[in-house]
Amino acid sequence: MASNLQLVRSPGSMRERLILALDVDDLERVKALVSLLGSKVGMFKVGKQLFTHAGPQAVKLIQGMGGEVFLDLKFHDIPNTVAKAAIEATRLGVKMFNVHASGSLEMMRLTVREVSRVCRQEGLRRPIMLAVTVLTSLNKSDLQRVGVDGEVADQVIRLALLTRQAGMDGVVASPQEVAPIRAACGRRFIIVSPGVRPQRAKRNDQRRVMTPEEAIRAGADYIVVGRPIMEAKDPMRAAQEIITEMERGAAAD
Ligand code: C5P
Repeated sequence: MASNLQLVRSPGSMRERLILALDVDDLERVKALVSLLGSKVGMFKVGKQLFTHAGPQAVKLIQGMGGEVFLDLKFHDIPNTVAKAAIEATRLGVKMFNVHASGSLEMMRLTVREVSRVCRQEGLRRPIMLAVTVLTSLNKSDLQRVGVDGEVADQVIRLALLTRQAGMDGVVASPQEVAPIRAACGRRFIIVSPGVRPQRAKRNDQRRVMTPEEAIRAGADYIVVGRPIMEAKDPMRAAQEIITEMERGAAAD
């Protein structure tokens, strides 16, 4: 496992560490955004909206234009079903995909095992396998209602450790959770952070935000940004400003 982690760790430049959330329902718009921003961002995130609309075609379109894809479908089902979906994500050639850690240790273990097996057998690139711990939209009383007592932060760490134990590569986590996860799970564990807002941007519906500089300084490996780039008057410039803020965060290390 260590050698695989070595391969997937340490993305180089800040550009490679910036992921654009393509939350759109229109392949023409995808084409325009990838063509405009392909040189500014390292990966494009395809989520439930775009994938439900266009399916693998969206992924193939981005790849055909030279882009890498984070398939953000947050699989959560019985172990066999998730492992099979993960195999299909791997065959699609995505660079990253994710599952819900609350789906169980067994679900994540089988996913890692099956994906690794298929990569060996079919000569495929091993994707970065991530888990979502606790959705950032959930608070303490939401967790209580589904039978989870205690603090959200403790549940995040519990599920991050479970993710590591399963042999997955890392987690998706809000910027506020990055430092404690890094402390609990170590330097090689990959942390991808949405909920990032450049200094001058609107917060939209993101509640607990950090700037790109703060998120990188806290230890995030990748940051996910959507609306502050896509809705900017000049998306290229917005992306460049975010990269510059990220570079400041890295320089502060
Ligand atoms: O537009 P914005 O920058 O808020 O987009 C953030 C992206 O990251 C969205 O696709 C959102 O679904 C996703 N995300 C998030 N919070 C999480 C997990 C994913 O905002 N905890």
